[in-house]
Amino acid sequence: MRAAVYRRFGGPEVVRVEEVADLAPKRDELLVRIHATTVSAADHRSRSRDIPAGLLLPSSLVLGFFRPRRRVLGMDIAGVVESAGTDVTAFAPGDEVVAMLGSRFGGHAEYAIVKATDAVAHKPQDLTFGQAVSLVFGGITAQAYLNQTAVTAGTTVLVNGASGAVGTAVVQLASAVGAHVTAVSRGPNHELALRLGAQRTIDYRTHDFAADGTTYDVIVDCVGNAPARRVHQSVTRGGALLLVAADLRSLVRAKRDAQRYGITVVTGPGAYRAADLQHLMYLAQINDIAPVIDREFPFDAISEAHRYVDSGRKRGSVIVHLTDANPTPVVTAAPETAARN
Ligand SMILES: NC(=O)c1ccc[n+]([C@@H]2O[C@H](COP(=O)([O-])OP(=O)(O)OC[C@H]3O[C@@H](n4cnc5c(N)ncnc54)[C@H](OP(=O)(O)O)[C@@H]3O)[C@@H](O)[C@H]2O)c1
Repeated sequence: MRAAVYRRFGGPEVVRVEEVADLAPKRDELLVRIHATTVSAADHRSRSRDIPAGLLLPSSLVLGFFRPRRRVLGMDIAGVVESAGTDVTAFAPGDEVVAMLGSRFGGHAEYAIVKATDAVAHKPQDLTFGQAVSLVFGGITAQAYLNQTAVTAGTTVLVNGASGAVGTAVVQLASAVGAHVTAVSRGPNHELALRLGAQRTIDYRTHDFAADGTTYDVIVDCVGNAPARRVHQSVTRGGALLLVAADLRSLVRAKRDAQRYGITVVTGPGAYRAADLQHLMYLAQINDIAPVIDREFPFDAISEAHRYVDSGRKRGSVIVHLTDANPTPVVTAAPETAARN
């Protein structure tokens, strides 16, 4: 099969599409023919070693110290089950599925192995593979963090980094349950945030949300510049700070900060769950959340997709198409984004 392989850490040019060995699923696994995947912030971080302060050493245990341990990146996939192991009952060949591969990676290839009990769900017929996969990485991360606090109608939520894959998902998921969402992003992305359900926007270039005296029940930091020591006064006492991105110091101090400031500090997504993926697909079907797609690339141009993600400016997801069924050319025009109905 063909896969996008990287054999050393570095810029987008280290990623090359090559022939690699075929995969064989075990009894409890699926072999999925991938139709679409994304180049995510995690792919960028893993490939370039752009890792938050203090986390290079621990992350190297997973990513490799001198060269990549896993040579094929890609955390999320949408595709068709090619074959299923004998123990698999929930999926059958021909089923259209989405899956979060997480730190096992392997999504930037024609095929991937997915354990049937991991985060895998059926893809709704009315979503394309590209639309479906755009909801996986950001959506399952957002849901996994939101599961660890209470966000309901009237909860005030501030999303720092509201225009990325995770941020757009948090904005939509919180808005869908009736929360009052404030989105922090550059001004040009405010219209997107409002279309996704945010009720208020802040441009971080001209306004520091942590310095204006406003408090929020939940703050979700998708940037890594809002640790408890900086923003605790902006979290309602008893509220929650969800650190989607953070450096080592903020993670190590999280428990102590939580006690000191009387807030909950969440430092990780926990295990990715199939139930969350099913929920996301359901919400997309009923138009409570929508795919946010910035640019789309054919597989042979995957290093260009990496180059675009390296800009740090992507809005929602950057899609890579693996199959001829979706021969989308590189889009160089303004980002296409889908709004909620
Ligand atoms: N803990 C986990 O398990 C986990 C899982 C997934 C992702 N992450 C991490 O979470 C972070 C977000 O992931 P993502 O996929 O959403 O990334 P992404 O899609 O690459 O997000 C990029 C967005 O960040 C925004 N941004 C950059 N600087 C900002 C600032 N100072 N203030 C506000 N927004 C800013 C940019 O928007 P503007 O152009 O508007 O500035 C851009 O749209 C990454 O660091 C990623 O590594 C962690």
